[in-house]
Amino acid sequence: MDGGFHHVSVLLEEVLDLLRPAPGGKFLDGTIGGAGHAKALLSRVGPEGCVYGIDQDPAALKVAEERLGEVGNPFELRLGNFAEVLPSWDLPPLDGILLDLGVSSHQLDTAERGFSFRLEGPLDMRMGDVGPSAATLVNELPERELVDILFKYGEERQSRAIVRAMIKRREDKPFRTTRELAETIERVIPYFKAGGIHPATRTFQALRIAVNRELEVLEQVLPAALAKLAPGGRLAVISFHSLEDRIVKTVFRDMAKTCVCPPKFPMCVCGKVSTAKVITTKPVEASEDEIRVNPRSRSAKLRVAERI
Ligand SMILES: C[S@@+](CC[C@H](N)C(=O)[O-])C[C@H]1O[C@@H](n2cnc3c(N)ncnc32)[C@H](O)[C@@H]1O
Repeated sequence: MDGGFHHVSVLLEEVLDLLRPAPGGKFLDGTIGGAGHAKALLSRVGPEGCVYGIDQDPAALKVAEERLGEVGNPFELRLGNFAEVLPSWDLPPLDGILLDLGVSSHQLDTAERGFSFRLEGPLDMRMGDVGPSAATLVNELPERELVDILFKYGEERQSRAIVRAMIKRREDKPFRTTRELAETIERVIPYFKAGGIHPATRTFQALRIAVNRELEVLEQVLPAALAKLAPGGRLAVISFHSLEDRIVKTVFRDMAKTCVCPPKFPMCVCGKVSTAKVITTKPVEASEDEIRVNPRSRSAKLRVAERI
């Protein structure tokens, strides 16, 4: 069986409408997770098509393999970060690529992965098994870098006060678990002052983004993904917070731009041509019905660009 891997795919119908999988189609899912989107794509491309999948989490890849195997159509999976795997993967020109960013519900709810401030577990937060854990960052980074991480990636206005408390505590005893960190933050920001969310929400989000270098890899992968598409092929990205959405929006806009010479130039010297057109001028969001069934979809934003 699949080890109880649970994750409800977000904006599934909208992704299918915009990626338009048809028999013979070749699609890549760079964040295959529990293979919800990928399975729907695979069943539509038929025996002549193929779905390629990437995930940096070996547990997700194992589940995806089982679930895709049930369809009976061709697929191939690779373990690793999409920013590293995708550029070097020798693929046929693709009809569509999906990136459904962030962590799966399964990762969030597995205490040993260390993503949740509610569940006691090692302070890890790595989606894969490479790179430094959140505990390493929290115990070893200088105060100033930690303040920057909390402020930039968590938009945490209390970043200085939180980091001061973290430094004091780590000098005494290094952090090992999620609850140790969450309790330190709860003592700095009482619940009633956290604006309706758990006081550790922003700090945990910030650390997760830093541990997995989420913004850097997103910036790297978008041009690499566009290059893998056939003309007319589509790149769909689902993001879950404003920092990611801003990157997707800006990169798509730049891809669509033609000449970027200063307006005072009499003629174009930059030679820039647009490489994509933006299909979703406004991001597609979940319907109220979907949000009711799957509250995680509340912050999802889907943007799609098409290769020219
Ligand atoms: C939101 S889940 C995807 C769920 C999937 N679309 C579904 O319907 O089941 C995101 C998955 O992408 C993986 N992931 C996130 N960032 C990644 C990256 N940079 N490279 C590879 N995998 C990544 C995570 O490990 C996680 O399994």
